[in-house]
Amino acid sequence: MTAGYRVAPVPEVRGRIRVPGDKSISHRTLMLGGIASGRTDVTGFLASADCLATLEAQRRMGVQVEQLSPTQLRVHGAGARGLTAPNGELDMGNAGTAIRLFMGLLAGQPFESTLTGDASLRRRPMERVAAPLRLMGAQIDTVEGKPPVRIRPVQKLRAIDYALPMASAQVKSAVLLAALRAEGTTRVAEPAPTRDHTERMLEGFGVQLRREAGQVWLAGGQSLTAAPIDVPGDFSSAAFFIVAGAIAGAADFTIENVGVNPTRTGLLDILRLMGADIRVHPRAGAGAEPVADIEVRASGLRGIQVPEHLVPLAIDEFPVLFVAAACAEGETLVTGAEELRVKESDRLAVMAEGLTRLGIVNELRPDGIRIQGGRFRGGSVDSHGDHRIAMSFAIASLRCDGEIRIEDVENVGTSFPGFVEVAHAAGLKVQGA
Ligand code: S3P
Repeated sequence: MTAGYRVAPVPEVRGRIRVPGDKSISHRTLMLGGIASGRTDVTGFLASADCLATLEAQRRMGVQVEQLSPTQLRVHGAGARGLTAPNGELDMGNAGTAIRLFMGLLAGQPFESTLTGDASLRRRPMERVAAPLRLMGAQIDTVEGKPPVRIRPVQKLRAIDYALPMASAQVKSAVLLAALRAEGTTRVAEPAPTRDHTERMLEGFGVQLRREAGQVWLAGGQSLTAAPIDVPGDFSSAAFFIVAGAIAGAADFTIENVGVNPTRTGLLDILRLMGADIRVHPRAGAGAEPVADIEVRASGLRGIQVPEHLVPLAIDEFPVLFVAAACAEGETLVTGAEELRVKESDRLAVMAEGLTRLGIVNELRPDGIRIQGGRFRGGSVDSHGDHRIAMSFAIASLRCDGEIRIEDVENVGTSFPGFVEVAHAAGLKVQGA
């Protein structure tokens, strides 16, 4: 029996809540802090299963990490050439960001490493990262394009000029991390803007980058100097509650201290197009990443055609956006979102199945979905082990006629430990089942 949630209908969310630290940034503090010289003090770290897999892998390659509290780390950088060969495979669990960024970090090392993960991760495509790294001279083997990924030692890498075939921050970041060890200047061009946490953190660690019109240039051989990092609340975790406020018609609901990097906040633009009333109150003292309190007020949503340029800027928020669309008046159409099929689950298919089971009419398309607004009825859905899908259906309880049972929710801890407690604080009735 896998663990599940039982979620009872509630009319509204209220108050002020906080969500745990940003997952993408937490991975990067460990990866970049580990190869920097000096001590990186991290606050707001997300101690979730995904990020702890990165922490453990860094320790096994000789990086000393002190965990001063659940959210406070001190990473003692091993320096540009300080990583050492791990003893055995490195298990990344469910973490796509960890495996793909480590591929870039380890591609130019003088030792062999093997990266693997759980059943979901072992189904996900790795050639998108392996292919550009091979062009740089890396020796990488995948198993039919999937993990385990074996990285053989090389003496050096060479710079490349690479146009990403898909909008992926993980692929971009892997190439940039490998570029640090390559001879010459690497250029990466992306087809659409994607999250730029790697670029921002590299700059914060003293690396010179040139960034212009969807392109990044990085000259190899540069070293990183440690700097303190304050990780903001994860926008992707806040997203569940932003949608909760929007569909419940909350009168007074705020999520505090959320990272609002514009490469992450496409959901706000999409919800505003649907008629949501969302106010972003910037917080002072932000470092490399902008931070704000997000206030959501009562409003009715209407269905829209989601502009394709917003898709990569909201890529992790689609499961909960589909819940918003199910509560909107009229029809919502999402296209150009085929990347959702290769996330922790096939998020188009799994969401379509769950929406149907809860009485929401929808039509699955190869690259998206059409959703007819309505009202959820009670019932049972399977998250297929996908953390964001499990949490999204919990939010549906704000517009539901009966109890929702959500199966297979253990992986919520990969990104949002304490989800149930935060949900209670907001007024939701979520129980373990
Ligand atoms: C991430 C990039 C995105 C996102 C993932 C985190 C990152 O993946 O979906 O959750 O931290 O770089 P893709 O690069 O596959 O789009």
